[in-house]
Amino acid sequence: YAIQGYEDVAAEHLLGIFGNPIKHTLSPVIHDTLSDALGLSERYVPFCVKDEDLSRCVKLAYDEGVLGLNITVPHKQHVMESLVNVDIAAKTIGAVNTLVRVEGGYKGYNTDMPGLAKALETEGIALKDETVIMLGAGGAARAVAYMCVSYGAKQVYIVNRTFARAQAIADDMNAFTEKTVVQAVASEDYQSIPDGKYLMIQCTSVGLHEGDGMPFDFGDAFYAMAKAGVDLIYNPAQTPFLKEMAKLGVPAVNGLKMLLYQGILAYELWNNLKVSEALTDKVYLALQD
Ligand code: ATR
Repeated sequence: YAIQGYEDVAAEHLLGIFGNPIKHTLSPVIHDTLSDALGLSERYVPFCVKDEDLSRCVKLAYDEGVLGLNITVPHKQHVMESLVNVDIAAKTIGAVNTLVRVEGGYKGYNTDMPGLAKALETEGIALKDETVIMLGAGGAARAVAYMCVSYGAKQVYIVNRTFARAQAIADDMNAFTEKTVVQAVASEDYQSIPDGKYLMIQCTSVGLHEGDGMPFDFGDAFYAMAKAGVDLIYNPAQTPFLKEMAKLGVPAVNGLKMLLYQGILAYELWNNLKVSEALTDKVYLALQD
């Protein structure tokens, strides 16, 4: 079994990512930079995998000896059916982005959530006792909600176009802890959120495509309630949400550091090692090239 361009890489040194589409992934930069710096012969390969091929590809990768995999859109939920075990946090989030080779198959983890928490920490944003407004209630938002709850946020509002999706996440999180109050808000009811200063996290997919506007036209007065802003999107680097934050003078970051740290954490799991801060900085520079 040979992959074009990687014929000289032994399967046990192969890492990869399954997604669709997958053309624009930056993950190979993260993992190949790490392997080069650490003198490991591992290589990281993107694979475009269709829904109907997912379970077969996971099995094939395991049988061939592939060391580890990342899983991205649209497979983060479905892949769980093809795993021998799922880490408890990933199970609660309901999404897996990292497969680690164990006896008999792969075990699933979610490094997006701790990756984002680490990224926020490096930006000086603490979640403990924080009040948060999340925009969006899709798969990525679910991991963010779980992060807010795990790190002890006080109150989280989840605003979404489709109320039922926000409500489903809020119900799951409120069942999980009493420390954080999670409230679903239909986007047309955004004015029900009390005046205050919030950490605002943009979790919708709006902003990914050229010509996208703001996810919601709530006006400057609403967005000025942000004391800090985060957009999960990293490509483009400047989204309409981040431009709005800049216009209002609110400090804000895009999703590149989250991408960085979810990758570092996955690499640490695959290789059972700790990546130094100096090497992390080096990878971050490589990502910005
Ligand atoms: P992901 O895995 O990236 O989170 P997703 O699960 O498809 O992707 O979720 C996309 C999110 O962006 C959802 O919150 C979605 O809102 P709905 O639940 O109402 O579909 C939101 N979204 C996508 N397009 C949108 C738009 N034009 N306006 C507002 N929200 C939008």
